[in-house]
Amino acid sequence: MKKQIDTRSDTVTQPPLEMRQTMVTAALGDDGYRDDPTVLQLESMAAEICGKEAGLFVASGVMGNQLALFTHCNHGDEVILAENCHIVDHELGASAVISGVQLRTLPAPDGMMSPDAIKAAIRHCLLPKTKLICLENAHSLGIVHPLEYMAAVRKIADENGIAIHLDGARLFNAALYLGVEPKVLASYADSVMFCLSKGLCAPVGSVLVGTREFIAKATPRRKIMGGEMRQAGVLAAPGIYALQHMRARLQTDHDNAQLLAQLLAQQPALTVSPEKVHINMVYFGEAVAGSFAKIEQAFMQAGILFNPAEHGVMRLATHYGMEESDVRFVVQTIAAALA
Ligand SMILES: Cc1ncc(COP(=O)(O)O)c(C=O)c1O
Repeated sequence: MKKQIDTRSDTVTQPPLEMRQTMVTAALGDDGYRDDPTVLQLESMAAEICGKEAGLFVASGVMGNQLALFTHCNHGDEVILAENCHIVDHELGASAVISGVQLRTLPAPDGMMSPDAIKAAIRHCLLPKTKLICLENAHSLGIVHPLEYMAAVRKIADENGIAIHLDGARLFNAALYLGVEPKVLASYADSVMFCLSKGLCAPVGSVLVGTREFIAKATPRRKIMGGEMRQAGVLAAPGIYALQHMRARLQTDHDNAQLLAQLLAQQPALTVSPEKVHINMVYFGEAVAGSFAKIEQAFMQAGILFNPAEHGVMRLATHYGMEESDVRFVVQTIAAALA
């Protein structure tokens, strides 16, 4: 059977066989009673990796982010965040539904808000009161924000008694790019969510980490969100495998994305900035109108799965299961379509 190349996202990764096998042998309990040993092991591993006191296993990245907002904030509080972050753009207004917070979005070129703009946006009046700043690193634009930026925002948060939540869906990609331990990035935030089910290839799940007190407050809120699971060790076990065995290979995804960007940069009909490809995602635009339509047509004919262009950009993701030869095939398909 012909291999299907899937450029849509790193969420399409299939768990390797050894990861699947951990599901069969995982020790299980009822996580509603907090006695599933495999879930507890994953949570303490996640906390230790992030340098936090405690962790909580959740079904998805969206759930982890929304649970963080729900736990940090009260109804009517204000949250400062980038206008192009995942919580604003891709979580279907969940923070209005679940936490009843007001999102104060700020302009954010490359996903980064200006520290001065954050400072100016903070409100100390009775309501809405600024309660939280959300950061996203790596940003889903494929860009990693430097530690200096994280430090500048941390300083503002501390000066104003405001908490920071880090959407670290791709925390390990960001840490790898910066050449630091994940706990260094996590140290700038009060709570961090990271995903197991993207480049790390676990089938399901994310972990929210923070202080013991924060996680104790988050636990009943997770139940309110319908997120209390039972023998969830079958899902936590691949997560443990992912943390133990899949982190180092993210470099391959970064290398493949950089190769893809470099090769696309040779196409005059496209615009791409390889220096902005920090992790496993390549965004590119059209220098010649109609190029996206040609590429999409060629992808369909070649059986390459893709997300259609949106707002004038197209994104291709690299991940486990996509080899360098697949990247070259994708580029050949694009080059032939544009020739
Ligand atoms: C930056 C970011 N945050 C959160 C999420 C949500 O993760 P999930 O799809 O597991 O809900 C994603 C998903 O791609 C993401 O890119």
